[in-house]
Amino acid sequence: MSFFSKAIVGLDIGSSTIKIVQLKPEANQWKLVSMGIVEIPKESLDAKNLDSQRSTIVETIKRVFKESGIKTKKVVTSLSGDSVIIRYVKLPFMTEEELRGSIAREAEQYIPLNIDQVVLDFQILGETQEDGQRKLDVLLVAAKVDVVDQHLLMLKLAGLSPMVIDIDAFALQNAYEINRVEPSEETIALINMGASLTTINIIEGNNTRFTRDIPVAGNDFTKEIQKEFNLKFSEAEELKKSHGAISMEEDDFSLSTVSHKDDRVLRMSDVMTPVLNKLLGEIRRSFDYYETQARKKTVERVILLGGSARLKNVNRFLANKLGIPVEHFGAFRNVEASKNIDPERMAENEFHMGVCLGLALRQVES
Ligand SMILES: Nc1ncnc2c1ncn2[C@@H]1O[C@H](COP(=O)(O)OP(=O)(O)OP(=O)(O)O)[C@@H](O)[C@H]1O
Ligand SMILES: [Mg+2]
Repeated sequence: MSFFSKAIVGLDIGSSTIKIVQLKPEANQWKLVSMGIVEIPKESLDAKNLDSQRSTIVETIKRVFKESGIKTKKVVTSLSGDSVIIRYVKLPFMTEEELRGSIAREAEQYIPLNIDQVVLDFQILGETQEDGQRKLDVLLVAAKVDVVDQHLLMLKLAGLSPMVIDIDAFALQNAYEINRVEPSEETIALINMGASLTTINIIEGNNTRFTRDIPVAGNDFTKEIQKEFNLKFSEAEELKKSHGAISMEEDDFSLSTVSHKDDRVLRMSDVMTPVLNKLLGEIRRSFDYYETQARKKTVERVILLGGSARLKNVNRFLANKLGIPVEHFGAFRNVEASKNIDPERMAENEFHMGVCLGLALRQVES
């Protein structure tokens, strides 16, 4: 027997950063054993063929393993974006076994792709009565076969063994649940703003009711800054991280936070605000959709995370416009760290770590 045989790590291969988390269960809490985060060199992804893009990612995966000192090769990873389709559907009542046998036929009408070109999975969430008939509430997940194959090939080239392939939105929910102070029936929206995607997950009590990946996120802010100042992507990225902020009408932004010599902050805010408004429009549409489906329930609170949640005032902007509280969510709020982990590094990166923490939590279920 080995103490390490059960060690599984969460590996979140984002479009801009690769994150790794290893947890250990302790008395009544989770302990963070190791973590790492490494940026993917963006310039080596641009204008390259698929093979060399893949090797850039494989190299970055190797770096994040090295940085964190993690030795196990068993990983839980995830997919996101438009390669994954998630649907909440009602199907005729049947046993789980029967459904497994007929899932392709049942799923066909809900999945806008050729059913032979997707990997299908499902989870029975419960049962309901509709027009006097027993129905099953089912969560359907379909991922494109070629995307899954590419993902597996990449993990293989990195020398890893995939145990589970999860979905970003579900991983976020798991991360949120272990950090929640007490169970509640309220409806919240987790909003994870990454680099290329913003994932929304609307949760009622303990159940996800709606998820969507919106293709508006940090890269769109950076591209606007790049155009405005005529910079390289990496330079615009640095400027955004060091001086970026969204200006708020009620702050006298031009006087209080910005030095008169440096109008870059205001110019950045001016070019980033339309991007944020576009994202806001998509968030509202998602909330409206949920609210019309969900028997008069409304989203009561937003929990904001992802690397782009670090942009100054994004939370205030969304709270103002949506008219509900928007709270930042640090993934490690309720996680104790072992001594070898630098608390500053942990705090600095915890917004990025929601998905990865959720992936690492899968070890108990496998
Ligand atoms: N201080 C900061 N201010 C503003 N944006 C920041 C800051 N730090 C990081 N970001 C942004 O966060 C994003 C990266 O976040 P994250 O690691 O969550 O993304 P990802 O998982 O790689 O992306 P995706 O999930 O969309 O593929 C980048 O767009 C980066 O510019
Ligand atoms: Mg991400």
